[in-house]
Amino acid sequence: MIPQSFIQELLNRLDIVDVVERYVPLKKAGANYVACCPFHNEKSPSFSVSPTKQFYHCFGCGAHGTAVGFVMEHVGMGFVEAVEDLAKSIGLEVPREERADTAQRPKAASDLFEVMQAATRYYIDQLKQTPRAVEYLKRRGMSGEIAKRFGVGYAPDGWQNLAAVFPDYPNKSLAEVGLIIESDGGKKYDRFRDRIMFPIIGGRGQVIGFGGRVLDKGEPKYLNSPETPLFEKGRELYGLFQAQKAIRAEGMALVVEGYMDVVALAQHGVEYAVATLGTATTPYHIQKLLRMTDQVVFCFDGDAAGRRAAWRALENALPHLQDGKQLRFLFLPPEHDPDSYVREHGKEAFEHLLGDESLPLSGYLLRELSSQVDMATQEGRSALLEHAKPLLLAIAAPTTALLLRKEVAALAGIAQSELEALYGVKSLGAPKRPAQQKAARKAPSGGLRALLRCLLSKPELALELPESWEVDGEGADAIMALVACQGEHDFQMGTAALIQYFQGTPHEAALTSAEADILNWGEGFDVEAEFHGVLEKLRQDARKQQLNDFHARMQQTGPVGLTDAERRLYLQLLQRG
Ligand code: UTP
Ligand code: MN
Repeated sequence: MIPQSFIQELLNRLDIVDVVERYVPLKKAGANYVACCPFHNEKSPSFSVSPTKQFYHCFGCGAHGTAVGFVMEHVGMGFVEAVEDLAKSIGLEVPREERADTAQRPKAASDLFEVMQAATRYYIDQLKQTPRAVEYLKRRGMSGEIAKRFGVGYAPDGWQNLAAVFPDYPNKSLAEVGLIIESDGGKKYDRFRDRIMFPIIGGRGQVIGFGGRVLDKGEPKYLNSPETPLFEKGRELYGLFQAQKAIRAEGMALVVEGYMDVVALAQHGVEYAVATLGTATTPYHIQKLLRMTDQVVFCFDGDAAGRRAAWRALENALPHLQDGKQLRFLFLPPEHDPDSYVREHGKEAFEHLLGDESLPLSGYLLRELSSQVDMATQEGRSALLEHAKPLLLAIAAPTTALLLRKEVAALAGIAQSELEALYGVKSLGAPKRPAQQKAARKAPSGGLRALLRCLLSKPELALELPESWEVDGEGADAIMALVACQGEHDFQMGTAALIQYFQGTPHEAALTSAEADILNWGEGFDVEAEFHGVLEKLRQDARKQQLNDFHARMQQTGPVGLTDAERRLYLQLLQRG
């Protein structure tokens, strides 16, 4: 559970204008910013962002929310993921309220991290004492400095070397982190023996796994840690922890295949490279990198395996493409991998290739598709359309998908509309959210609507309401919920925090209408005056209503129909007039 107070703090510190602008260019219009809505198709902007109130609202389709909501909706992240992403972007750590049943877990994990840390130190130490291993690394051109930066070590030959570090060898933790294996006969021994050790570092800087390379010939060439509670291959990237800063600074991440590629590139000044860990590039990898940067380049080996890996990466990337983000593919000459290339030709030549020789995703996709068929024949073009269909339909980014449909149609010699009909693609005109949804929502009107917009715009006004204050009428429940919400938390919730809090609740519709009102206020609008005016009017209305009720009863029963207390109240109401 993420504490509500943290959401409040996060929304206070973020600027929704910055957050939205990462994805959608905004224009200043009076007190607000506007753009064509990214959530539905439109020609004139009805999407507004309020910098003072920190929310967005589309007058066209009703899309609305806070910075967190925007990232969720636009990038497709879950709530927790979006909060973490945004917190990270401004250097905040997300605190967790632990539930009783998970309270044990972090402690256990921290024990396992310590085991990994101790093993890493041991391997580094062993490297220093093993000339043969140092020689090997030198022969491969690795500097001492870079070996240190990546924590490269050496696991000596022998079956139970780790017993030197862990007196209770073979303990349960060692098995849990995958450092020891149990043979069929029940004998326990070190997993990594006579191997160069590459520690794999997780997001928080802790060692979560290892890759171990044989020094000479031997199978497998690289032995990796198994999946453990600390290490999930499909989510981690080798070198990401070290590369993070450079990736943000360069605005680019480079994905390569091997441990040695990452290390050699870094040694030659290409510091934004990461490697998958003997697995295909997964959607997690792609999402992780696209959150850090707008440009990801895949550079796989020039051999057949490298080409297969690139295509897999492309397939996994399609659902995660975002307009404005770029994926590119670089194919090295077949005899090279990035390690050998950068050592032979240096950083400049390598970056020159990156800039000049890499293909954008669309170019790579079209090249591959058309190379598989004979484009000169009708059968070939028809096969192209067949092959392209699942790929194009997998693309979520609307502009990218549209442009690719255009290109594939042109390649196949048909009209774009024909291709779209063939693929069953809906015409772009249909908005994602049907407009009639708006009418179905119940929102307060008149005085209550005015009260709601005041309370949402300036939540501290709730404190000025008399104790045990109540309203009723259409939409009153939203107002009461807003007021109650302030009482439930020991801190003042701001506009954005309230919007976030009520997202997905029955009160969301009411808040949406209030947002629209707030956006329509001119500059210098006096919220407090409106608030007190409305309160006064509501008081008057309530008084009139009560008087009317009394009159109606007295008409039937005469003055004697009222109790003494009621008669006193009646007189008071009359006098207050
Ligand atoms: P490569 O076979 O291309 O090796 O494997 P490499 O990276 O060029 O290694 P060097 O230069 O010979 O040292 C690429 C990557 O595939 C994974 C490793 O992550 C490796 O870096 N791999 C390869 C394994 O996991 N196991 C293997 O047996 C081989
Ligand atoms: Mn290599």
